[in-house]
Amino acid sequence: MRRLSSIAEVRAAVHAWRHSGERVVFVPTMGNLHAGHMSLIQAARAHGERFVASIFVNPMQFGPNEDFAHYPRTPEHDEHLLREAGCDLMFMPDVAEIYPHGAEGATRVEVPGLSDILCGEFRPGHFQGVTTVVCKLLHIVEPDAAVFGEKDFQQLTVIRRMVSELCMPVHIIAAPTVRDADGLALSSRNQYLSEAERVRAAALHRALMAAADRLAGGERDYAAVERDGLRALEGQGFRPDYFAVRRADDLGLPTADSAHLVVLTAAHLGKARLIDNVQVRR
Ligand code: PAF
Repeated sequence: MRRLSSIAEVRAAVHAWRHSGERVVFVPTMGNLHAGHMSLIQAARAHGERFVASIFVNPMQFGPNEDFAHYPRTPEHDEHLLREAGCDLMFMPDVAEIYPHGAEGATRVEVPGLSDILCGEFRPGHFQGVTTVVCKLLHIVEPDAAVFGEKDFQQLTVIRRMVSELCMPVHIIAAPTVRDADGLALSSRNQYLSEAERVRAAALHRALMAAADRLAGGERDYAAVERDGLRALEGQGFRPDYFAVRRADDLGLPTADSAHLVVLTAAHLGKARLIDNVQVRR
């Protein structure tokens, strides 16, 4: 596996593969890799012959009071895991390579509407930072396919919309969420939980599953499902931002006929802000 930090070197490597007919699959990450990221690499396997992963903690997607400075950075550990997983190229640019004129005044890509609801309401500018960096990374790597985790369901939806509206020739692959035995979705931010909070954190997935069971059983009173979800989380000491039932395809408000739903939540526990979701088909 090669570890590269310049755009020009990545382009040269990828062009050589594509020239010899190999399909390239890309897994963008912010590093501090865990089993959840490794499952993205596994999902990539079926879609190509060459695998590129990026490690870039993107300053543009963090708000002024968020954890950019403290976000865990473990490049040697990440390199080891990617090598073991059979990745061909690890792209680890510095901030100046991605934002040569600074992140502040950089050209931006925005998906309006979808970026402003749910997490977007509580993290203004976050999805604009995500779409900007993902658009740039996709232009740099020019992969045939790119993999994103369903754990960040809104991010996946926003990226699909961007790729479709900007006519970007890349296939977006969704990889299922990886969970610990008690249901907690794997996330780098789980490290911010104390031992006691880590035990309580499983209540997030339980609340989502309880909502999903009701919806699968035919419940149409979405407001009641959302209210009960919020109460369940508050009862376990969470400070929820939202607990919402939405249409899975576009995150719009569901009607009684909506057949494919997603229940999404974001909630603070101690220093951690956790997000998760479950889909329901009926
Ligand atoms: O999901 C993430 O890790 C990030 O939001 C992404 C897609 C790598 C963009 O920085």
